[in-house]
Amino acid sequence: MITENLGAKKKQLDWSNLDFNYRKTDYSFVSNWKNGAWDAGELTADHTITLSECAGIFHYCQEVFEGLKAYTTRDGDIVCFRPDLNARRMADSAERLVMPPYPQDRFVDAVEQVVRANAAWVPPFGSGATLYVRPLMIATGDVIGVKPADEYQFRILVTPVGPYFKGGAKPIRLCVARYDRAAPHGTGNIKAGLNYAMSLKSGMDAHAAGFAENLYLDSQSRTYVEETGGANVLFVDRSGKLVVPVSHTDSILPSITRRSLVQVARDLDVDVEERPVTWDEVASGAFVECGLCGTAAVISPVGEIHDDKDVVTFEEGHECMGPVMTRLRETLTGIQDGTVEDVHGWVHKIC
Ligand code: PLP
Ligand code: COI
Repeated sequence: MITENLGAKKKQLDWSNLDFNYRKTDYSFVSNWKNGAWDAGELTADHTITLSECAGIFHYCQEVFEGLKAYTTRDGDIVCFRPDLNARRMADSAERLVMPPYPQDRFVDAVEQVVRANAAWVPPFGSGATLYVRPLMIATGDVIGVKPADEYQFRILVTPVGPYFKGGAKPIRLCVARYDRAAPHGTGNIKAGLNYAMSLKSGMDAHAAGFAENLYLDSQSRTYVEETGGANVLFVDRSGKLVVPVSHTDSILPSITRRSLVQVARDLDVDVEERPVTWDEVASGAFVECGLCGTAAVISPVGEIHDDKDVVTFEEGHECMGPVMTRLRETLTGIQDGTVEDVHGWVHKIC
């Protein structure tokens, strides 16, 4: 059994220049569900999975996942951020796809175990990099008729990463997607791989046309702003208010970063409005800043959004991140790396 790896020397990586790609680390965590129960789970140095060709994941896409990060604080602790919310969201995602939820306390314990075992891979304080933690669950049991499988695997891999968007805090350009991502009252509000499969074609088209990401409108009416392929969207209006799009059709992922930023904004005396936002309103120039928020994206500033007719430019965030997004980003990342007081108890010490 693998226990601790804490004394291990840090890996020799160019921490400040990491990109957002998979790099194998020392250990993953794995647990299997069989005969109606999860086994005890363990760390493994085997980063492969061998499955039956008839496993449910291959046919009917029973897969859910999560994303969180481990940080090194100024004091040298290794911490993660609100892992209880990832545990709960993963259980919600699993239930929606008729998969057995992984117990939430054991989820947090497994995150602790795998981060601790890979402590040598957690980027140092101040490097701008983090250890990305990716829990996932797949149907491993055989199915041929359309039905839920009877066996599952829960796994957590970790990998050190830099910024999700190249250029870090430089404003990116988005385009409004031609294809839809999430159906009304479908699966947009859970973290299931199938949603991301839906976004790959428009993602590749956007990149080929020189955009960093897509902005999805609601697929029912193509009227309201939803989110991007991997992050929620935030706007700042001309009065300095943070405007956070919500969905009539339950098709936006409940981002943990977004929920935290709404609280951070209130703490900073920034007014917050959570409401449906129409694309026409964005196109009319109502907003002066825009940002994408998520675990991977942190807050990435958006400088422009293009659709067939319009180019929308955000006046206060076009050349560099605007003032409201900057304050929110600095406060959130400060809480995460221990340089800003964690008044809400969001930071979870691992070791
Ligand atoms: N929206 C989508 C589609 C995502 O994939 C993510 C990433 O997890 C987010 C939003 C942001 O969520 P969180 O802040 O919980 O990482
Ligand atoms: C995350 O932010 O954790 C995600 O899962 C988004 C993904 C596009 C990397």
